[in-house]
Amino acid sequence: MDVEHYDQQSRTVKKPLYTYYAQKIKDQTRMIEGKCLDVGACGGYLGLELAKMTNLHVTFFDLNAEALEKAALHLVEDGLEERGATLVGDVHAIPLEDETMDLIISRGSMPFWEDPALALQEIYRILKKGGTTFVGGGKGTPEIKAQIIENMLAEGQEVDLEAMDKMHGDGMKRDYDALLKSKGIENFMIHRAQDGIWIQMWK
Ligand SMILES: C[S@@+](CC[C@H](N)C(=O)[O-])C[C@H]1O[C@@H](n2cnc3c(N)ncnc32)[C@H](O)[C@@H]1O
Repeated sequence: MDVEHYDQQSRTVKKPLYTYYAQKIKDQTRMIEGKCLDVGACGGYLGLELAKMTNLHVTFFDLNAEALEKAALHLVEDGLEERGATLVGDVHAIPLEDETMDLIISRGSMPFWEDPALALQEIYRILKKGGTTFVGGGKGTPEIKAQIIENMLAEGQEVDLEAMDKMHGDGMKRDYDALLKSKGIENFMIHRAQDGIWIQMWK
């Protein structure tokens, strides 16, 4: 992954995508304070937008240390250094104690997880009682896509519609109901809509 390019696009032309999902997460979960983990955060785009709308403290978690350097930089740029932290690690073995997070979010990382059932079990393990998750992925709505295209054209960028719609592998087509049940997780809801697939689990 070209972190530099991904970061540049996500902080500029693609920003409406993150604002959209942060608002959706806030509306759906109503979690506005406590501790949040952004899994596969890269440069922290989703968690940063959510932090701006809430009082949540966000930990940006990713395998890629270079990506997390971007997240640390953006925390400072956005004046949110007191509201966030970074943590390097693998979602298959999250280096956190049981029941430590109130809200766990993730966008666009799930298709890359080698063992999604184990990863979701790990996410559930660190979820506090009374907490919830919003993990999954999507590319926004037609309106958000139109806005991104407009932003790209205004910047003189080429628009590759096929690449914009491309989903990574079969990651989003898996039978997540069966995966969650295989790990004994019963408290969940899977939202499948125009704007992607999102798994909400709760304790
Ligand atoms: C396509 S990027 C998504 C970044 C960001 N969440 C977004 O919405 O733009 C996927 C991210 O997931 C991270 N990732 C992939 N596998 C992971 C794993 N096993 N544990 C933690 N992070 C992982 C990658 O390093 C990458 O930063």
